[in-house]
Amino acid sequence: MRKQIAAANWKMNLTMEQGIELVENILSENIQLKDDQEVIFAIPFPYLLAVKDPIKTSRNYFIAAQNCYFQKSGAYTGEVSAEMLSSVGANYVIIGHSERREYFNENHQMLSAKINLCLENNLKPIFCCGEPLSIREANEQNSFVENQLKESLFHLSAEHLKGFVIAYEPIWAIGTGKTASSAQAQEMHAHIRNVMANKYNSEVADSISILYGGSVKANNAAEIFGEKDVDGGLVGGAALNAAEFITIIKSLK
Ligand code: PGA
Repeated sequence: MRKQIAAANWKMNLTMEQGIELVENILSENIQLKDDQEVIFAIPFPYLLAVKDPIKTSRNYFIAAQNCYFQKSGAYTGEVSAEMLSSVGANYVIIGHSERREYFNENHQMLSAKINLCLENNLKPIFCCGEPLSIREANEQNSFVENQLKESLFHLSAEHLKGFVIAYEPIWAIGTGKTASSAQAQEMHAHIRNVMANKYNSEVADSISILYGGSVKANNAAEIFGEKDVDGGLVGGAALNAAEFITIIKSLK
């Protein structure tokens, strides 16, 4: 059974003290996750170790970095490698978030190199894809997202893609308060699964967790997560509030 995941993407928010308080408030709710459910905190690099500690006794809670560099190591002042993240016990890494693609000019080649480095270092990528508003308005979102998958994932083996995590985040829905309707999310998630089934096989496609991201909140999570091909969410703004994120976790299938 593929995993159902509530992933918090803190982005560049919260001090360490605020972050730990948030995690402790969420943990104090004592939500007993099922075997196939996971909660992931994608947090700023300097807090990885500090947040790893409080979650260590909670089953199926994990930490993620929000990025890594596309080179293995060397003279890249200020960058953080996949190997470094692995050495501090990170479990997941968000790769190709639309903010990274847009503000830091991350291209398909960089993203595929990052994914390779994650896999070499036993880190699980959370690969983000999604179209801007102009593409949605032109009704070209399916081929746009298909191309993102092709350019950054299709070099991987079927073995690597078993249990992989993809986040579909339409850019027009991120931080805007405007969510895709659950029907729009389902339609794209089914398309993504179909693309992966055609390239690999249905066993691989069915094992991939496809998360929806873009203004997921406590009051819409259950409806969106209820769709057949939606396996949870990657949550920005609402994940900064304990009560909101608790409800979102409880909305997992
Ligand atoms: P949002 O962000 O929930 O604030 O829209 C989602 C994301 O960018 O991962």
